[in-house]
Amino acid sequence: MRLKDKTALVTGAASGIGKATAERFAEEGAIIVCADKNGDGAAATAKGINDSGGKAFAEMLDVTKSAQVQDVIAKAIEHTGGLDILVNNAGITIVGSVEQLTEEQWDTEMDINLKSIYLMSNAIWGHMKGRKGGVILNTASIAARTGIAQDAAYCASKAGVLMLTKCMAKDGAGDRIRVNCVCPGFIDTPMIQGYFDDQDDPAAAREFATGLHPLGRLGLPRDIANGFLFLASDDAEWVTGEALTVDGGLMAALP
Ligand code: NAI
Repeated sequence: MRLKDKTALVTGAASGIGKATAERFAEEGAIIVCADKNGDGAAATAKGINDSGGKAFAEMLDVTKSAQVQDVIAKAIEHTGGLDILVNNAGITIVGSVEQLTEEQWDTEMDINLKSIYLMSNAIWGHMKGRKGGVILNTASIAARTGIAQDAAYCASKAGVLMLTKCMAKDGAGDRIRVNCVCPGFIDTPMIQGYFDDQDDPAAAREFATGLHPLGRLGLPRDIANGFLFLASDDAEWVTGEALTVDGGLMAALP
């Protein structure tokens, strides 16, 4: 068990990558706090883990609300006795170019995808420092590394996540707080299906996206959970400030 006796808080744990990460970490022995704006979904993920012999709690959390963030981190510490790992994963995508996006859409995307990581990390930093270490993991994207048409706010927010990861890694190193991110390719989750549905021809968009990955399929949430598992585990004890690309070869195949 690679996370035996560890504790983790995962945001966006009701669905997709967050759900898979919560389940994967629990399989490896971690006690999990599943947090999501969708409280019922977070509770369902926690129930699934508990029914499978693991240990998990659920908390409803909007990661853009500072007071809720502080409250849930305090509760998570109480549930678990102390947090070793934070996975900042909650995110959304709003399709649109700069010309098309409204100011409100821009702000929403930035608040959920980027500012939330500041809020969560700010709220947990002192706790991890006091415990003489911890691991913070962020979900970035290949959209942090390459521009995608009609996805301006998303790409900008994820590039921000990548840089914030590096800055926090440098700031945290002296306190043994390791900070890394994963850059997923297209992962088959409700979010990416919503992205396809927003295109003129959703089936063609899915086929096109699949074809971008040399390994011949869309990613599965568990593919990303496995990347997070490595970064959370002691196998990565000398890894910080890194962006681990898990994309079926997509970035390698770009011209
Ligand atoms: P998903 O839609 O399946 O899950 C996202 C979860 O975040 C949902 O449960 C939702 O309720 C929650 N959430 C949304 N806003 C929230 C808020 N304000 N507070 C708390 N929870 C909130 O999406 P998926 O695909 O699992 O995405 C997870 C992360 O992975 C996101 O950060 C996304 O940008 C990133 N990502 C996804 C890719 C994909 O192809 N699916 C590719 C690259 C990155």
